[in-house]
Amino acid sequence: MTAVTQHDRAGIRRAAPLGTFATLTTVTILAIASVAPAAAQTAPDYQRAVNAAYEKYKNLNEGKNADYIPALAKVNPNLFGIVLVTPEGQVYSAGDVTSEVSIQSVSKVFTMARVMQDSGNAAVSNNTGVDATGQVFNSIIAIEQHKGHEMNPLVNAGAITTTSMIGGGTADAVWSNIMNTLDEFAGRQLTVNQEVYKSEAATNQRNQAIGALMYAYGHISGDWRQAVDLYTRQCSVNVNAKDLATMAATLANGGLNPITGHQVVGSQHVPGILAVMATAGLYDNSGQWLYMTGLPAKSGVGGGIIAVSPGKFGIAVISPPLGDVSNSVRAQRAIAAISDALGGNPYKAKS
Ligand code: DON
Repeated sequence: MTAVTQHDRAGIRRAAPLGTFATLTTVTILAIASVAPAAAQTAPDYQRAVNAAYEKYKNLNEGKNADYIPALAKVNPNLFGIVLVTPEGQVYSAGDVTSEVSIQSVSKVFTMARVMQDSGNAAVSNNTGVDATGQVFNSIIAIEQHKGHEMNPLVNAGAITTTSMIGGGTADAVWSNIMNTLDEFAGRQLTVNQEVYKSEAATNQRNQAIGALMYAYGHISGDWRQAVDLYTRQCSVNVNAKDLATMAATLANGGLNPITGHQVVGSQHVPGILAVMATAGLYDNSGQWLYMTGLPAKSGVGGGIIAVSPGKFGIAVISPPLGDVSNSVRAQRAIAAISDALGGNPYKAKS
């Protein structure tokens, strides 16, 4: 396994520029035109809603850090940061917005986006499928049930498979494409948390079994061990709440990063990405979450959750303690409260 240092990473970047992925200028114009008009809320409304949720939940003590990846148990459980970014690039925040946690499963959204961008939406739906499994995120029974189909890209089986579908060939080239994609969504150069990567790589036998099964059923066609390793690295990338909110806001803005002005993914792919987030982003709690908020979202066991109100805002909360379905407790509560205050539910008719 190749350890990825910041220095390695920068070298890869110079060798492999973004190419067409970040320079879809025609699509940019279309995307801007297709985004809904700015919300009626004013800046104080947004900041007030963010502050209110922070105050309401800052002392909430429910949940527990993930510990099946040993390094995650050591993360400060009191870390709590909220950031909301609008399609106009305005940023509203409260709490700790600079401390980093590992992105974990939130990364799956962006690897899926990259595969859709490079190979088309059908490449994903034909290979992994896009339906919810109704099982835990690392279920092996779910793979067996459908011979590896009906594994959407947001559960481990689908995500390891979409990672295997990223172009490049060699591990370094594929990794460079994954990292560039995450950077473009976040609007800055991210780094790998080596401690988390090593900790997960040493304990990810279950994901290796999942990778081997997806290979056995013909969904992964190359080296499944490489796919599992790159997937593990992608989950170990450090992000803060502002990074995650910018990633979410890029999806809220038709694939155009509102901070950098780069079109990161073609706007034609965004509805499909949001649909998978809506059906499977919070795993077996996705239906309940959608029922309450209407927001496509994605959680990670590092404690981050992103949610998207299309045309209105992207929001992220980091708080490591998780509930029984492996979703951050405070992040769910805070996002639901803020979205409610700002009329973020896209299913609600405007009053
Ligand atoms: O593969 C794993 O188990 C982790 N790297 C990611 C799982 C995860 O984040 C599930 N999300 N709530």
